[in-house]
Amino acid sequence: MTDQLIIFDTTLRDGEQSPGASMTRDEKLRIARQLERLKVDVIEAGFAASSNGDFEAVQLIANNIQDSTICSLSRANDRDIARAAEALKGANRARIHTFIATSPLHMEKKLRMTPEQVLEQATQSVRFARNLCADIEFSPEDGYRSEVDFLCRVIEAVIREGATTINVPDTVGYAVPELYGNFIKTLRERVPNSDKAIWSVHCHNDLGMAVANSLAGVKIGGARQVECTINGLGERAGNCSLEEVVMAVKTRKDYFGLNVGIDTQHIVAASRMVSQTTGFVVQPNKAVVGANAFAHASGIHQDGVLKARDTYEIMRAEDVGWSANKIVLGKLSGRNAFKQRLQELGVSMDSEADINAAFARFKELADRKSEIFDEDILALVSDESAAGQGEEYAFVSLSQHSETGERPHAQIVFTAGGKEIKGASDGNGPVDASLKAIEQHVQSGAEMVLYSVNAISGSTESQGEVTVRLQSSGRVVNGVGADPDIVVASAKAYLSALNKLHSKAEKVAAQG
Ligand code: KIV
Ligand code: ZN
Repeated sequence: MTDQLIIFDTTLRDGEQSPGASMTRDEKLRIARQLERLKVDVIEAGFAASSNGDFEAVQLIANNIQDSTICSLSRANDRDIARAAEALKGANRARIHTFIATSPLHMEKKLRMTPEQVLEQATQSVRFARNLCADIEFSPEDGYRSEVDFLCRVIEAVIREGATTINVPDTVGYAVPELYGNFIKTLRERVPNSDKAIWSVHCHNDLGMAVANSLAGVKIGGARQVECTINGLGERAGNCSLEEVVMAVKTRKDYFGLNVGIDTQHIVAASRMVSQTTGFVVQPNKAVVGANAFAHASGIHQDGVLKARDTYEIMRAEDVGWSANKIVLGKLSGRNAFKQRLQELGVSMDSEADINAAFARFKELADRKSEIFDEDILALVSDESAAGQGEEYAFVSLSQHSETGERPHAQIVFTAGGKEIKGASDGNGPVDASLKAIEQHVQSGAEMVLYSVNAISGSTESQGEVTVRLQSSGRVVNGVGADPDIVVASAKAYLSALNKLHSKAEKVAAQG
């Protein structure tokens, strides 16, 4: 057995399944580039057959990423598998990941299939996929709640048909570490051809144990691939977090004895990029990437760290990409310095026109804010990419008045389908007034299920980053907006969420 642990990132597929986390094609490519810089072994870029948008995203990523294997999810049927293979054509290294549920509950209630039918469909699908791609991963969905004898038969059959990776999902996050580790071990011992495939773990975090379960699957079960997402993004309580599992294996090499190829210095930038793109804010006390992960507030701890760092620190902040808030650019910085910083941050822009537009926005921001941090640039570029895609709604300007004892009032100008709209409204506060002024014209009827403000670089001089989550006709979308003025940031976030509601892309769910 090898001592290399394969890191399979599914931020762009399972992570994106989290309600509100949907990303545009270009946002996905930007994140894929960051994953490549991280040296992720396999990037699951999407579920090509689920929508045209997903197909195009997988194709774009397959055509542009050089170093990582690019994977598409696919249900176990010929149409989905052929679509995945088509989207992956341009990849240097491609993988098709096909799945079918194997637990009694899923087979009976969801698929309405007998176990024999499921076994037959799994076998046929892997046979079909193997003719299109050399690298095939098979997942028995809800594998952890499946009956062991039946699961062994399915796995043995798909390995015989040429599956090269066997992934055992704890789809509903029900496992506990020791039991999950032993489950993988039992499967590997009982499946006669188990040595012909790499074993993989895929854990959801419903009981907060996704990372622990994955590590047990590796340590006890002998799995050599972990499926994970940046920031643990994913449906419900999320997936196993990449940064936590990687740093656990690296920091405790004495215990795990495994190597991971991840370039950890890019972890924090990846975390920020995913959070800014999806609007899913990282909790301050989140391991590795939370703002407080390396902050020592108590006097005893500070004293200890100053005397000898390892008294209270088991990892070095700089090893995962934390740097003291760096002032990177200012008012006098030129276009070349801006362009170079974009490159260093892993942001690539398709055309000189896009760079010029982003640079103009940078200058505008630098006029209002003397110190520009990396976080400001990433926020500005996120805004720019939204504006550059011919979105339905775009922010133009806003003025608002609020005074103690008076009802706040806002006037806003925005475009809808290229046409300028002027709106005005009162509200409980200036943010409320501004969003009401937009809603009066748009009449989306959407319910706001979340509104949050975050200071991008920590002080009152910082830009405010606002996330707005809207729900309408069963769809949930997140909009993110950034500006030194939080009322403007709120209006931008609201328009961004409306843009996402406006784009009607529906996807086939991978589960359920
Ligand atoms: O959680 C799960 O079962 C999945 C499969 C589709 C691999 O994401
Ligand atoms: Zn999953």
